[in-house]
Amino acid sequence: MKTRILTGITTTGTPHLGNYAGAIRPAIAASRAADADSYYFLADYHALIKCDEPLRIQQSRLEIAATWLACGLDAERVTFYRQSDIPEIPELTWLLTCVAGKGLLNRAHAYKASVDKNLENGEDPDAGVTMGLFSYPVLMAADILMFNAHKVPVGRDQIQHVEMARDIGQRFNHLFGQGRELFTLPEAVIEESVATLPGLDGRKMSKSYDNTIPLFSSAKELKSTIARIVTDSKLPGEPKDPDDSHLFTIYQAFANPAQLAEFRAELVDGLAWGEAKQRLFQLLDGELSEARERYHALMARPGDLEDILQAGALKARKVATPFLGELREAVGLRNFRSEVKTAGPAKKKGGKVARFASFREADGSFRFRFFAADGEELLLSRPFSDPKAIGMLSQRLIAQGIDALELRADVNDQFTLWLDGECVADSPRYAGEAELEAAMLRLRQAMATLVG
Ligand code: TRP
Repeated sequence: MKTRILTGITTTGTPHLGNYAGAIRPAIAASRAADADSYYFLADYHALIKCDEPLRIQQSRLEIAATWLACGLDAERVTFYRQSDIPEIPELTWLLTCVAGKGLLNRAHAYKASVDKNLENGEDPDAGVTMGLFSYPVLMAADILMFNAHKVPVGRDQIQHVEMARDIGQRFNHLFGQGRELFTLPEAVIEESVATLPGLDGRKMSKSYDNTIPLFSSAKELKSTIARIVTDSKLPGEPKDPDDSHLFTIYQAFANPAQLAEFRAELVDGLAWGEAKQRLFQLLDGELSEARERYHALMARPGDLEDILQAGALKARKVATPFLGELREAVGLRNFRSEVKTAGPAKKKGGKVARFASFREADGSFRFRFFAADGEELLLSRPFSDPKAIGMLSQRLIAQGIDALELRADVNDQFTLWLDGECVADSPRYAGEAELEAAMLRLRQAMATLVG
């Protein structure tokens, strides 16, 4: 089975070298693994929590989309979308909000930090705290649970949020799953090997310290930014200590072992800092110049970026829409025509009703049959190795009716039921086209007694 990897990128600011080495580069590499099914998205709803400047929001999501694509993300291979293009996400956020404990959210680091700061300043604890900030982890849980992600690569500051997503998902499963796991419980993945890049002044490279190296500035700007990296005052010819130099640390994040060994030896040998900066410039410019060109080409065609992201949203919604349908069903937001029932197929008092019956084959696989109220068998499913697949399929049929799937009349006087390009069930054979048509009608009618 494929591993679903999902991560969001908050769209504030312009990507810098630290984002590239710490998040973008490893994520793109991971998306190329054969067993990876990756979901990468622009967390632009999250960005609204931190920023109330529409122009900056717009500019940043454009820049970040262009950056990921320029750095080699293959939008055909992965699912790349904007959070705000998936209306199922805010809807799921509400379902989760209704099960998330307030006490759990009170413990979120980001919220607690704001409260602590207010208290320190003698202000009301909730001064300036929006419900967006408070509910941030619930929105993030919806991002993750919507796609049943197994692994969520994040920075350390986000581990708590992934754990909250687990908690909330588990609670929802417990309350509404009737024994099955509606949500996959996600795991945070921290890339130990990925360096946290120091900035110009040696502190962690971060926009808030104003010490960043922009990822796609021009070669000239890159050179002048590198010139501002703080070094010690050792003169040319004096031996330098590579392990006490953040210039070296930055170099290390991009060099191959041979380049690194050479650079180290040169520094120990007394290479001038000016020369060292020139070496770093060449290394970075070599790594980034092609991506920089692609970036500027993409930024010049925002309409193309829009199309790519719309296609990504369509792909994501193919998963999100039916899954949200199941979740609505699970919490009781059901079509009025579906019978009020506690579990399993609808039962009318006294009378017989259409029903699903699942069973296990001798080879261990699972199937179901679907019967009309009078007992006529209308469908026999294909075998499934996972009994959950049957539960999901029948729930979906009950929730959304036969048109949630595709019904095809086949040439051999049989009809078949299809889901996502796969045949999931077959009818018996009928004697001719007219009988086939009539049987299809009976199937629709029988399904309609379960739904509407
Ligand atoms: N909160 C994350 C951050 O600031 C971004 C994010 C939003 C995210 N939704 C997500 C990350 C879902 C992983 C999964 O870095």
